[in-house]
Amino acid sequence: MPQQVPRLAAVFAVAVIGLFVARSLLVPDTFGDLGHYRAAAIDTIVAHPKEYAGHQECTMCHRPIAEQRAASNHRGVRCEVCHGPAAAHVANPLEIKPAVPRERDLCVLCHAYSPSRPTGFPQIDSVTHNPRMPCAGCHEPHAPEPPVTPRECSACHGQIANQLAVSHHAELNCGTCHEAPKEHRDNPRAVRPTKPAERSFCGTCHAADARSSERIPRIDLRSHGQPYVCWQCHYPHYPEAR
Ligand code: HEC
Ligand code: HEC
Ligand code: HEC
Ligand code: HEC
Ligand code: HEC
Ligand code: HEC
Ligand code: HEC
Ligand code: HEC
Repeated sequence: MPQQVPRLAAVFAVAVIGLFVARSLLVPDTFGDLGHYRAAAIDTIVAHPKEYAGHQECTMCHRPIAEQRAASNHRGVRCEVCHGPAAAHVANPLEIKPAVPRERDLCVLCHAYSPSRPTGFPQIDSVTHNPRMPCAGCHEPHAPEPPVTPRECSACHGQIANQLAVSHHAELNCGTCHEAPKEHRDNPRAVRPTKPAERSFCGTCHAADARSSERIPRIDLRSHGQPYVCWQCHYPHYPEAR
């Protein structure tokens, strides 16, 4: 017999014995009692304090909110997704209050634009979508809907509309001088209307040779007020000739 065979056999025997020693030292007692896992793990898990109550628990005391949510776009979003674990609150409602998440971060977690979201899922760009205001200021978190925005310019630009209404320009509409895209009413800071940029714009009514009502006072567009734009001297929403 070549002498390396007993040497290899000895190494093999040591490895097998080592394996059994390690197994008896390292494998937990109850391993394998119920399956390929540590049976005692069940007791450890059961012993964890209960943190989540489940949304059914909330209905008893918060029925209006629960019914509102169940009928809303957020019917799939459970109370504790937003308010955090609330089992302690259910056990002791007056002493322990769940978090009331008013920061924008919470909503952005689900509603920020992402190509990985399903098509049609309502998404916004939180940088341009009405920043500096909490989402709940415009959307009811328990029954969210895109709010209906006012259609009239005067609803948001009341002061300008009031001034215009009693000015020499009372007969002009906002649309005469501003082109306001529909989206401006929904997302006013991100989508802006146009503003007149040149003297010639006012000249369409006020230039000496303009084809407008004769009643409208005329100026010599080439010399009057040069080199300034008209609204440096005349406030366009309340123009005065003095
Ligand atoms: C046993 C009744 C009861 C149950 C069940 C209950 N609540 Fe309340 N909850 C209350 C009371 C009472 C208040 C305090 C109302 C107040 O202060 O005006 C409250 C307040 C709250 C508040 C507001 C905290 C604040 O700071 O204003 C939230 C959020 C809330 N509960 C969420 C939940 C959620 C989520 C559940 C279900 C997991 C739940 N509650 C279950 C009784 C209950
Ligand atoms: C999508 C997140 C979200 C879900 C889901 C949600 N809430 Fe709220 N909840 C909020 C936010 C945000 C506020 C703060 C509203 C505010 O500041 O006007 C709030 C406020 C509250 C308040 C305080 C009362 C008030 O109007 O100030 C209670 C109570 C409450 N929620 C209970 C619940 C219960 C019960 C459920 C489940 C039926 C639930 N919420 C589901 C986000 C959520
Ligand atoms: C856990 C994820 C989640 C969170 C957090 C969440 N939402 Fe939603 N939201 C949804 C789901 C799901 C829908 C329903 C989508 C659908 O109908 O396709 C929805 C619908 C909406 C809609 C309706 C849009 C439409 O076009 O009808 C608005 C508005 C909305 N959420 C605002 C909010 C606001 C504000 C908050 C924070 C208080 C918030 N969401 C937090 C998941 C979430
Ligand atoms: C100043 C009021 C205002 C605030 C604050 C606001 N929104 Fe909106 N939101 C609107 C209006 C108006 C619309 C409908 C027009 C539009 O689609 O832009 C809308 C639409 C939405 C929609 C539906 C988009 C779609 O394509 O169906 C979602 C989702 C939404 N908002 C979520 C949010 C979230 C999340 C926040 C906070 C990070 C927030 N909003 C803050 C006014 C607001
Ligand atoms: C929902 C509210 C709302 C409505 C409706 C609305 N606006 Fe605005 N508008 C705003 C806000 C907010 C701003 C930004 C003001 C700022 O940033 O100082 C703005 C800005 C403007 C500006 C200035 C743009 C700039 O670049 O300086 C013009 C012009 C304007 N709006 C015209 C209109 C006209 C015309 C209408 C009607 C077709 C209208 N708006 C309807 C809210 C509204
Ligand atoms: C005769 C033309 C004219 C009409 C009509 C008019 N605007 Fe203007 N508007 C202007 C001009 C020009 C400016 C630019 C002023 C500047 O840059 O100083 C302006 C600026 C604005 C601005 C920017 C903020 C400000 O005060 O400078 C808003 C907002 C605005 N207009 C809203 C309106 C609304 C709303 C109406 C209708 C109620 C309206 N405008 C009607 C010519 C007009
Ligand atoms: C669509 C035509 C039209 C446009 C465009 C127009 N205006 Fe006028 N403007 C009028 C009318 C109409 C009057 C009033 C005439 C009257 O009193 O009967 C008037 C009056 C005036 C007056 C005289 C006020 C007074 O005290 O008598 C001034 C100044 C004036 N506009 C400046 C401007 C400026 C600046 C612009 C450009 C931002 C402008 N207008 C654009 C139609 C227009
Ligand atoms: C440097 C300041 C200034 C500028 C810029 C200016 N104006 Fe005037 N505008 C005046 C003054 C001051 C008066 C009144 C005295 C006069 O009639 O010259 C006046 C008067 C007017 C009148 C009334 C004329 C009448 O006969 O009653 C109209 C209309 C007018 N301006 C339109 C415009 C238009 C349109 C522009 C731009 C093309 C413009 N202004 C630019 C200062 C200015």
